Amino acid sequence: MSGTGASTRPAALRPAHCGKDEPVIDAPLSSPIAAAQEACRREFGPPEITTRGPGRVNLIGEHTDYNDGFVFPAAIDREVAVAMRRRDDLKVQLTSETFTQTDRFSLDAFERLSPGPGVPTWSNYVRGVVRILLDAGYPVKGFEAAISGNVPEGAGLSSSAAFEVAVLTALNALYELNIPPKELALLAQRAENQFVGVACGIMDPFISAMGQRDHALLIDCRSLETRAVPLRLAERGVAIAILDSGVRRGLVDSKFNARREECETAVRHLRRLLGRDSIRALRDVNPIEFNAVARELPDDIRARARHVISENERVVRGVDALEEGNLAVFGKLMNQSHQSLKDDFNVSIPQLDLLASLAQKTPGVLGARMTGAGFGGCTVNLVEVKALAAFRDTVLASYRERAGMDAKLWVCDAVDGASVIS
Ligand code: GLA
Repeated sequence: MSGTGASTRPAALRPAHCGKDEPVIDAPLSSPIAAAQEACRREFGPPEITTRGPGRVNLIGEHTDYNDGFVFPAAIDREVAVAMRRRDDLKVQLTSETFTQTDRFSLDAFERLSPGPGVPTWSNYVRGVVRILLDAGYPVKGFEAAISGNVPEGAGLSSSAAFEVAVLTALNALYELNIPPKELALLAQRAENQFVGVACGIMDPFISAMGQRDHALLIDCRSLETRAVPLRLAERGVAIAILDSGVRRGLVDSKFNARREECETAVRHLRRLLGRDSIRALRDVNPIEFNAVARELPDDIRARARHVISENERVVRGVDALEEGNLAVFGKLMNQSHQSLKDDFNVSIPQLDLLASLAQKTPGVLGARMTGAGFGGCTVNLVEVKALAAFRDTVLASYRERAGMDAKLWVCDAVDGASVIS
């Protein structure tokens, strides 16, 4: 069994048993693993295998993955757990503790579920993964599975990739498919792109499958090479704090796919303007080249490209700064990333802007930015441990006053990627 997200935080920062003076809020986390196993036992019988797939927080590098660029996420101690048993026929039976719903289908004929009242659309993540495995020729048979998770949905922390990766990890182990983690991440992405219908990049399944405890992963989304960079949070006296704006979005109906198309349009323009056929993605254009022709681009397209090209630079500079122990520079780059996502990529919302600007003004906060796709969800904050309590008090109170709603804060650990528990 590899890491299950056991906390490495100083005792005073652990969310469980939050005492009055402890600077972290949010209810103690229930264990999705125990819940999934219990539900499997209750509904179907003892599980043969239990797996977990973690959510993620992206520290910097947003909307760069599908532009063949760089990202820098960490897997976090929020996860989806799947407890599974084999069947001898082609039937699949599912129960979700998270959605308190069930679903069943047969491997010889099943479709994507369309949204509607009471429809268990979460099952599309299982259906999608199964479809992709079958199409790729993997010998999958029927199964029964119970699912439970504590990655908030639509919060930009990648609950869907966590789910897909957990299911794939379970089927991989149960049917001895021998799929290595990188390939598993690619299969999860294909399920999301081709079955669920979101043109997402590789970042989320990749970090969920390949995360490393106490590290963030620099991923080159073209070559899929990675570098695990130690975070040394405790030693450096800083914490990764997530602020949940409380605004939810669905990627299927958000402007995510539209942004991706705008980036492709930018590539076509830049290929023509720079006279270079080898430009395959925004990754292939450097800031100097971009600035030389930027004024020739339509306004929206210029802004989208400017974000991606500058964000790639920020990731590379940010990782260098972190490796040199220069957290101040890393934090400034996070702040700039937020500004660029807001002004140029146009994926932020007023609540995320408010959280980021409140945080950026708070002493002891090194950097703050929205994380994930945007249109709702969370910000990620790099905060000095000694400043956490004041950070919590001032930001949460001001947010309530000015946004008229409550945000939630939790400090997260960087954990290992997906694993088989038993
Ligand atoms: C979503 C997608 C990712 C990535 C981010 C934005 O999480 O699933 O592939 O594009 O948005 O960085």
